[in-house]
Amino acid sequence: MDLNYTNNILITCARGISPFLEDEIKSLGFTVESSHDTGVVVRSKFIDTYRLNLELRTAFNVLFLLKEFRCVSPDDLYSKAYSMQWENIVPEDEYISVVSQVSNPKIKNSMFANQRLKDAIVDRILKKAGRRPDSGPDRRNIVINLYWKNDKAWIYLNTSGTKLADRGYRKIPLEAPMQETLASAVLSAAGYTGKENLINPMCGSGTIAIEAALIALNKAPGLLRSNYGFMHLKDHDKTYWQDLRKNALQKAEKKPRHPIIATDIRKDAVNAAIKNAKTCGVDHLIDFKVCDFRNTDVPKGAGAVIFNPEYGARMGEAEKLAETYKEIGDFFKQKCQNYSGFIFTGNLDLVKKVGLRSSRRIPFYAGDIECRLLKYDIY
Ligand SMILES: C[S@@+](CC[C@H](N)C(=O)[O-])C[C@H]1O[C@@H](n2cnc3c(N)ncnc32)[C@H](O)[C@@H]1O
Repeated sequence: MDLNYTNNILITCARGISPFLEDEIKSLGFTVESSHDTGVVVRSKFIDTYRLNLELRTAFNVLFLLKEFRCVSPDDLYSKAYSMQWENIVPEDEYISVVSQVSNPKIKNSMFANQRLKDAIVDRILKKAGRRPDSGPDRRNIVINLYWKNDKAWIYLNTSGTKLADRGYRKIPLEAPMQETLASAVLSAAGYTGKENLINPMCGSGTIAIEAALIALNKAPGLLRSNYGFMHLKDHDKTYWQDLRKNALQKAEKKPRHPIIATDIRKDAVNAAIKNAKTCGVDHLIDFKVCDFRNTDVPKGAGAVIFNPEYGARMGEAEKLAETYKEIGDFFKQKCQNYSGFIFTGNLDLVKKVGLRSSRRIPFYAGDIECRLLKYDIY
């Protein structure tokens, strides 16, 4: 792969997160070309995908555009994909996985498009290099993404491979864990920079507190991973990647200057959160405690208190939670002066029980559920 080749880079994210992803991308010095609900586009060199993969906290995948073309049938897809110089990109002894999103009335099954694109790539490499790469569903090697909408198609190299949300530290998930990238976007929406206190009662498996520790340390989340799609391509620049990692390690601070406190009423939840934080290398930076949220210590000072309570997706549960939401409001009023209080929830009826007026309501999605992050200014 020509590392200086310049083209569009589509950085994907979960629905609703793109404003925060856009801020991150701009802060890395890139100019945003366009943005939509689940992605942001920049135009840059292929080599810049290394830094995007290393630094971005709220992205899913970093996709480098290889070809954009008119495509009217599976045979058309095959011949146009076959004309691409795959032998310069994919080593013949590698493994490729093709992922497709097809919205074309003539194609009923996107697996068929997958198959045709995969055939074109491996047939081309067989012809030029004398050997066919392996292929299948495993995304730990080379991943190619196809988007095909009506008569237009785009082929991207997925330089991330597996999703960047899978940082690798969450070994013990509990029920309803928050995705790592969502937790990071919630912290960004809460204005958390690491230079203020962070209190996370109801921490569950600890995702919000762990992401906060990474932000407070200024530690690139990509340092936690050792495998990316781009590493499997021809002409991967190992030295450049090692230098980027070294710089990122040097930039990371040794210790956050402000406390991060995470509590939960369930002992197994706190144990899981501690284990996850240990895997991430930040367990010594978070004060964990098993306790009811009402007994969470809120140190003097200022910062954010972030709750992600259950929101009763099943019938009958919401009624039981009404009292909890009321008590979260009481907790804010009684113990959190000078802090900003936040509740992340998918149930806006329960929010009415909090008894405080929110100053902001920021839309998010947890999977398919529309959620809000509500901000309360507490004086
Ligand atoms: C939706 S989960 C939080 C998930 C978390 N954000 C994560 O990433 O894993 C809600 C948590 O609130 C905790 N919880 C419920 N009632 C509580 C209470 N009264 N005091 C403290 N924690 C409580 C539960 O044990 C559960 O872990």
